[in-house]
Amino acid sequence: MRAAQDTAADTRTVLEVTGLGHRIGGRTLFDGLHLSLCAGESIAVTGPSGSGKSTLLSCVLGLIAPDKGTITVTGTETTRLRTSQRARLRAQSIGMVFQFGELLPELSPLDNVVLAALLARRSRHDVRDRAQRLLDDLGVPRAATSQELSGGERQRTAVARALINEPALLLADEPTGALDTETRDRTAQLLFDLPRQYSCGLLLVTHDPGIAARADRTLHLTAGTLEPAIAGEAR
Ligand SMILES: Nc1ncnc2c1ncn2[C@@H]1O[C@H](COP(=O)(O)OP(=O)(O)O)[C@@H](O)[C@H]1O
Ligand SMILES: [Mg+2]
Repeated sequence: MRAAQDTAADTRTVLEVTGLGHRIGGRTLFDGLHLSLCAGESIAVTGPSGSGKSTLLSCVLGLIAPDKGTITVTGTETTRLRTSQRARLRAQSIGMVFQFGELLPELSPLDNVVLAALLARRSRHDVRDRAQRLLDDLGVPRAATSQELSGGERQRTAVARALINEPALLLADEPTGALDTETRDRTAQLLFDLPRQYSCGLLLVTHDPGIAARADRTLHLTAGTLEPAIAGEAR
């Protein structure tokens, strides 16, 4: 019974990309790219520097309007929305983790996370308690400013900030690219555990095949489309 319910929840499609086409600077970056991601699932997209990984995430975030194709987030086709509607959907449904954490260094880890809820207008009376619980769960120590944290702790704060609004879709752009090997492995494990813990879909882009191999599925960005990566060839 429990397993059946879990399975049903996990088949919810949180991201569907169809026929994506986009050119930048006279170069075709995407040429009929397809992608489908369910809640509870992780996908890693690999590709060399300049292949379009960050641009793909910007399209999914709705920050770049692709030339062709559709992007549907939690059932809403974002490519048809007005800018303000896209911003609202982004705030409500998408969490983002960047390569360098991108925290506000003068604010405490707690305030960085709470601020994300305020900006998304998702601030409930218990937001500070929920933010602190998330930080505790992710093993972030209490600190007066986030610049006192180590690189790994900063990245875990960024994960908490991405999760505070309970997003259906989590995006991560080279989230372990700035970390040392041991911290990189622990952060990667933490990230790939999130879809099942928080019932979200995780789309992570990385040039690192060792990180990508931990995802449920690994896709390689090549010739403007996504192909299943062959073990040992993801680079
Ligand atoms: N705003 C832009 N104007 C012109 N070219 C861009 C712009 N943004 C990205 N590019 C180019 O698009 C390509 C893909 O960039 P990007 O998505 O950042 O690749 P990746 O994240 O895989 O390294 C690169 O060749 C980059 O130089
Ligand atoms: Mg990039």
